[in-house]
Amino acid sequence: MKFNVSESIASSDVLVVGIYSDDLALTGYPKDVSKLVLPLIKPLVDSEAIEGKFQSLVPILNAGIKGFSAVIVVGLGDKAKITSAKWRTVIGDAARAVTQYKFKSMTVVLPVGLDNSVAGQATSEGIGMGLYKFDQYKTEKKLGSLESVSVLASNEKSVASVNTGVLAGTSIAWSVNLARDLANMPPNDLFPKAFADRTRALFGSDENVTVKIIDESDAKKLGMNAFLGVGQGSIFESYMVVIDYKPNAKQAPICLVGKGVTFDTGGISIKPSKGMGEMKADMSGGANVIAAMKAIVDLKVKRNVTAIIPMVENMPSGTAQRPGDIVKAMNGKTIEITNTDAEGRLILCDALAYAVEKVKPSEMISMATLTGACIVALGTFISGILGNNQDMVNRMIETGNETGERLWQLPLFDEYIDYLKSDVADINHCNEGREAGTVTAAKFLEQFVGDVPWVHLDIAGVMDYRKTSGYKVKGMSGEGTRNLIEYVIRSK
Ligand code: BES
Ligand code: ZN
Ligand code: ZN
Repeated sequence: MKFNVSESIASSDVLVVGIYSDDLALTGYPKDVSKLVLPLIKPLVDSEAIEGKFQSLVPILNAGIKGFSAVIVVGLGDKAKITSAKWRTVIGDAARAVTQYKFKSMTVVLPVGLDNSVAGQATSEGIGMGLYKFDQYKTEKKLGSLESVSVLASNEKSVASVNTGVLAGTSIAWSVNLARDLANMPPNDLFPKAFADRTRALFGSDENVTVKIIDESDAKKLGMNAFLGVGQGSIFESYMVVIDYKPNAKQAPICLVGKGVTFDTGGISIKPSKGMGEMKADMSGGANVIAAMKAIVDLKVKRNVTAIIPMVENMPSGTAQRPGDIVKAMNGKTIEITNTDAEGRLILCDALAYAVEKVKPSEMISMATLTGACIVALGTFISGILGNNQDMVNRMIETGNETGERLWQLPLFDEYIDYLKSDVADINHCNEGREAGTVTAAKFLEQFVGDVPWVHLDIAGVMDYRKTSGYKVKGMSGEGTRNLIEYVIRSK
């Protein structure tokens, strides 16, 4: 799909216009637009078919206006309450509607009230993400695709900044869709080695990027026994993938760590069968980290970043880890395994310990579909955030408010360590009770981050979208990717 930005209205199949509920007269829109659209929508406004309610969508198919076959009017709600997240949602709906009517091109009028580059970025993000399809495994593919999008800038001076936004948004949407693809892929095709190979292939050529793949024998030498224990029941080897992006010669990197469990059966502490297939996406944290790295590299963000993704499969078998086992992590701590379904923290703790010892980052962010408890606590619309540095937590929450990938903080008070007391090892890796499951998981991780400022994002609740709406498409979500990208951009 091609984007083009101009200050004059370009004809195409469909003209898409956003309308505010408290300004049905399109105040502030380019004159050409209001001249074209106002007479057309007047009867619909009069009959209250068009009210401008947020996320309402009115298609006018035989518009009979110069340059366009159809007009789609999308509701933006209150003018004072417009955000880029709302526009991203609305334009995602519009793009899908355009393809459902089998049109091939659209012209988008940017809403007044948003900054030019922000609006441009939200436009290409919303369209790119909203049109996502996972049909690699369908032998019959549904046709219907959007070939070109013209974005109307309000005047000549704003073309450049709208265009900058559109280009960034295109790259970001591509990355989110990459994360969705990886998470949607079936676990017989996306096993740890395949995941690692794909990651290497993605970053093959950039001169500022190196990809290192730590295999089981390297991991053994490094003492990553917590990581190795999780994959020992699988026929697939485990890998720890390290992506280094170094645009600056001397700068401690931000370190992104993502959980890469390509399938989580629970291991010997096996999960119930209902819905277990969803656990093909238990590598979503890792996929998001990889996807974010790809966008950060493509956008040439001037910030050193290192990504670490432990990739394993958690299976029950004769060689699988047992509840009762004790393993020694890379930082020397001994861990009693209580429930083999709490595998995420075991692979992450060695990744974090590796980062502290070898990468020496300025700060670290871990992202994982870590606990069902997070879904119980916060539901499926937002992610949990915890950390040892309130400033970092605050900056990440602000980032989430901007991207629309919202976050809510849970505590990490000292008392919670009591839940992880072991009689036989330095630490228990989980408490089997129902208390504060998300907090205890993060409390466990905190034992491996040393003094490094760190936040942890539990994305279990947003792993998948249950329905298609706006830029969200039913299936695995890739949510969290844009927070990582935006956080790093803001840390330049
Ligand atoms: N991958 C799961 C968490 C999960 C559940 C993510 C549902 C997305 C949707 C994780 O490995 C897990 O099973 N955690 C256990 C921990 C418990 C045994 C302490 C959980 O949440 O039940
Ligand atoms: Zn598990
Ligand atoms: Zn898991």
